[in-house]
Amino acid sequence: MALLHILHYPDPRLRLVSTPVTAVDDAIRQLLDDMLETMYAAPGIGLAAPQVDVTKRIIVIDTSSKGDAPLCLINPEIVSHEGVGMFEEGCLSVPGFHENVERAQQIKVRGLDRDGQPFELEAEGLLAVCIQHEIDHLDGKLFVDYLSEIKRNRIQKKMEKQRRFSM
Ligand code: NI
Repeated sequence: MALLHILHYPDPRLRLVSTPVTAVDDAIRQLLDDMLETMYAAPGIGLAAPQVDVTKRIIVIDTSSKGDAPLCLINPEIVSHEGVGMFEEGCLSVPGFHENVERAQQIKVRGLDRDGQPFELEAEGLLAVCIQHEIDHLDGKLFVDYLSEIKRNRIQKKMEKQRRFSM
């Protein structure tokens, strides 16, 4: 396994739209393992492939308190949603910033597992929020896009400043 480099906002590569995975093979499973290792090391509760510069529709998530329940979703699609709630979100690509974002409270999501088998999952609360946040990444969308332009610009300026001093 290997730790992958996480791209930081406002890197333009985070804006690319990812393409569906056509075959779930050993290379994809290796990527899933590397993404999970990278997410746990960060530490974070979710990571999408474009955040590690791979434009494939793949996300990994673990919202369990012990961090022992990894969820891999390939080609995820939200098939239904219900309710609206406000949740405070952060992102491994926008470290140090947390803001309230409005999301569906309950969702049903469909995708492939690490063996390429289709499955459906019903989620609510933090898990539902996390899945919606990660699927956004696959479409080049970030949680800062839900904020006011003033807030977003402030975060962007701070992120650009951080980058000048990081090695
Ligand atoms: Ni994120």
